Amino acid sequence: MIKAENVVKTYNSQEVLKGISLEIYDGEFVVILGASGSGKSTLLSILSGLEKADGGHIECNGVCLDALKDDQLTAFRKEQIGFIFQQYYLLSHLNVEDNVKLGANLANNKDYRQIIEAVGLKDKLKSKPSALSGGEQQRVCIARALAKNPKILFLDEPTGALDEVTGREVLDYISKLQKERGFTVVMVTHNVNIADMAEKVVKMNSGKIVEIYQNSARKSAYEIGW
Ligand SMILES: Nc1ncnc2c1ncn2[C@@H]1O[C@H](COP(=O)(O)OP(=O)(O)O)[C@@H](O)[C@H]1O
Ligand SMILES: [Mg+2]
Repeated sequence: MIKAENVVKTYNSQEVLKGISLEIYDGEFVVILGASGSGKSTLLSILSGLEKADGGHIECNGVCLDALKDDQLTAFRKEQIGFIFQQYYLLSHLNVEDNVKLGANLANNKDYRQIIEAVGLKDKLKSKPSALSGGEQQRVCIARALAKNPKILFLDEPTGALDEVTGREVLDYISKLQKERGFTVVMVTHNVNIADMAEKVVKMNSGKIVEIYQNSARKSAYEIGW
């Protein structure tokens, strides 16, 4: 479970997060929705221990992040967290298998080929990122993040660089893998349609949460608008 209480963050004397309180339960699929500049990425970085808040409290799976030193935060992320960004950040000189292996090695997971298969890239094991489409590269990122069996997967605009067809495909992989493996999903987007896939939607505006609602009927990646 993630529990944020009155989280505040300031950049250059601009208050970017103005007292965020939020609970996210184990295995939940949460979408954080808001316009560009509303503070979504900042909140994600703080919830996942990539950055420190200036005020408030964050507890993540029983670990209080407020007091952790940088090396402790790194260890926490390594054990518990997977992260997927809009940009792929793959190592261009390594093939698919070796990129995913980097994630797997963090958790001593020898079974990483299974996750490459699960994202449909079994036939591309030896391909370099430059030989892959955008959707395939993002699927490598999903495999790399999941290869260390994180408890929580954080995604920041994961389909932001993809066209509609590949975007839907990537979202479908994420949702399918979550059902199989049961990790928690916290996904940031400015696309209101993607919120229809979530169990819980957290709407942000100008550094504040303006609404939290549950979707009574969730849509699949192929049922949402785009
Ligand atoms: N590292 C940073 N340094 C200075 N300002 C930042 C930094 N990160 C974000 N900001 C500012 O914080 C605000 C919120 O940014 P961000 O969290 O990226 O919003 P979103 O992800 O919703 O687009 C913006 O005004 C942005 O310019
Ligand atoms: Mg952002």
